[in-house]
This record gives sequence, structure tokens and C-alpha cells, in this order.
Amino acid sequence: MKIIKTVEQWKENYSLIKNYKIGFVPTMGGLHEGHTSLIRKSIEENQITVVSIYLNPTQFNDKNDLLTYPANFEDDCKILDKLNVDFVFAPTYDVIYPDNYKYVISEKEFSKLLCGATRPGHFDGVLTVVMKLFNIIKPNNAYFGEKDYQQYKLLEGLVKAFFLDVKLIPCPIIREDSGLALSSRNRKLSKEGIKIASKIHQIISSDNSLEDKENMLINAGFTIDYITQIEKRLYVAAFLEGVRLIDNVELK
Ligand code: PAF
Repeated sequence: MKIIKTVEQWKENYSLIKNYKIGFVPTMGGLHEGHTSLIRKSIEENQITVVSIYLNPTQFNDKNDLLTYPANFEDDCKILDKLNVDFVFAPTYDVIYPDNYKYVISEKEFSKLLCGATRPGHFDGVLTVVMKLFNIIKPNNAYFGEKDYQQYKLLEGLVKAFFLDVKLIPCPIIREDSGLALSSRNRKLSKEGIKIASKIHQIISSDNSLEDKENMLINAGFTIDYITQIEKRLYVAAFLEGVRLIDNVELK
């Protein structure tokens, strides 16, 4: 497994593998089974798999959330090495933002709803960094988890809007047996918090009305950011022990 830190280094390696099918899994580190399921799929479906680890500051509107993001580069590399990933792309801010974030990709509608409503600028940061990563890595396929369903839909729009030559592969949410969607942020919860957090999925996938679901979450101890149905999907973001958790389910 090669660790690549700069665009120049990647270009040298890319020139040797550009005729292979390249799968790409962008991450911010703090790897868990949700990420490894994407990586395994990429390894199955491509000849080369590249994983990026870049804790992208431009998508954090809350400094404290960025500073306390639970990721450890050495631990993540051990996981990736075991999985037989070919390349890890781990750039610094200066590598990704030579423009110091003067150039930004924005979407004007869906990005303003749900997570975008309370995290101003969040999706600008996501769309901009993913566009940069796609332009650098030039993957054939890129893998994203459906836990961040709004992010996935916005990236799908980005690919269409800018005629990007990459296929996005959405991958199902990986859950604990309790139903809790895997997330790096779960590591910030106490043992008791983990138990309560698993109620999100139980509640949103129950047969109750939207209003009842909201009240059930509040009674379980969550502070609701939003619980919203758009088309046939129910989206929720809620705080527990100061940790922001998101989930979504497709409604029948
Ligand atoms: O989903 C994530 O981990 C991030 O938003 C992504 C896609 C790696 C961009 O920083």
C-alpha cells in the first residue's frame, strides 16, 4: 500500500495505472465498518482501489466538531493495509486548497435544506473537495454510503452538472445489530449514549406518524435538528450528548 501526499506524487503513480479500472473511496478518516464495506466493494469491482483520508475543514461550520473529529491516521492506515488497498491519498490543506478556498462549488437548492439549513456552507465544502479529489485521482468508480443520503444526491447532481467522467456507486447504510447507523461520531458517545442512539433507527422506521416520531425522539433524550420527509425518504438529524447524529430511511 502506497501513501501519497501530493498531486505530483499521485500523477507519477497514475501514469503507470491509468489503463486500469480505478475505484475511489473518499473518507475523512475515523474508519469503521461503514467505510470498509465501501472499500471491499471497490476492491471487488476495480483493479486498483484508492482511499483518500482528508479531514476537510471547509465542510465544518463548527470548529469544535472539526477539532474533536475522532480520527487517527496510523490506525486508519493499519485497517487499509489489511484490506489490501493499493493507494492512500492523504493530502494537506495546502495541497487541496492552493487557492485557499477562493474557488467554491455551490448548489443552490437541495443543499440549503436538511443538513444545509443548520450547517451553512457544509455542502459547499463537500462539493468543492470532492470535485478536487475527482480531478486529482481520476477514478472510474467512486463509492459513497447512503447514511449521508443528501450528500450522495448532491454529488450525483454535481457529476451530471459538470459532465464528470466518474460513476457514483451508492452503498447501503451499515448498522449495528441494534439498528444504529455506523458513524465515526458514535465514538464520541458514552456507553449509555450508544444505547439511546440506537433508538433513532427504531423510531424512524416504525409505523408512527411524523409528529409522533419527533416526540418519541425528544422523549428518548434527543435534541432534534430536523426530522423531514422528502419524497419517499425520511431524514433525521438529532443531537445526543452534544454529538450530531444523522440517519434516513426509505418509506414504503
Ligand atoms: O462523507 C464524507 O466522509 C465526506 O463528506 C467526504 C465525502 C469524504 C468529503 O470530505
